[in-house]
Amino acid sequence: MENAPPIERRRVGDTILAVRVLAMPKDTNAAGDIFGGWLMSQVDIAGSIAAWQAAGGRVVTVAVNSFRFIKPVLVGDLVSCYSQVTRIGNTSVTVDVEVYAEPERDPDAVHKVAEATLAYVAIDEDRNPRPISGI
Ligand SMILES: CC(C)(COP(=O)(O)OP(=O)(O)OC[C@H]1O[C@@H](n2cnc3c(N)ncnc32)[C@H](O)[C@@H]1OP(=O)(O)O)[C@@H](O)C(=O)NCCC(=O)NCCS
Repeated sequence: MENAPPIERRRVGDTILAVRVLAMPKDTNAAGDIFGGWLMSQVDIAGSIAAWQAAGGRVVTVAVNSFRFIKPVLVGDLVSCYSQVTRIGNTSVTVDVEVYAEPERDPDAVHKVAEATLAYVAIDEDRNPRPISGI
């Protein structure tokens, strides 16, 4: 894109649609439904994007403080992860992620499938915690 908009600096309360992805057959468990670990990975990516934008740079996941699978995700579901920055500390950012699934391209069938709270730490080039400035 020639004139891509600049990445906004996220603040507490900001919510973004951080990840949107189609659940594929390769992401299934032995029973044929979507593997929970795949969903956890999408959630971590979604949380890290909001945390990166809040911290103004590189972050690492320090904790998954809660994770709830509410309903199963099935092959073909369009999965959307919404990330909300809930706290910006000295070096850490806390993010709530809510996940919704849309089966068979039917917007009326969208339903919540998971929710999680994750913590990220801003790090410097030596991987040490970095104070978050400019907020
Ligand atoms: C993240 C890491 C740099 C933190 O280093 P540390 O010296 O333990 O840092 P601290 O104990 O000073 O904690 C740093 C911040 O994290 C917060 N934190 C630590 N554990 C936390 C938890 N369980 N939940 C929420 N916040 C937490 C602290 O409160 C602190 O926040 P603040 O500065 O905003 O007050 C270090 O633990 C690390 O490198 N971990 C591995 C990260 C990683 O590789 N993740 C990907 C796994 S594949």
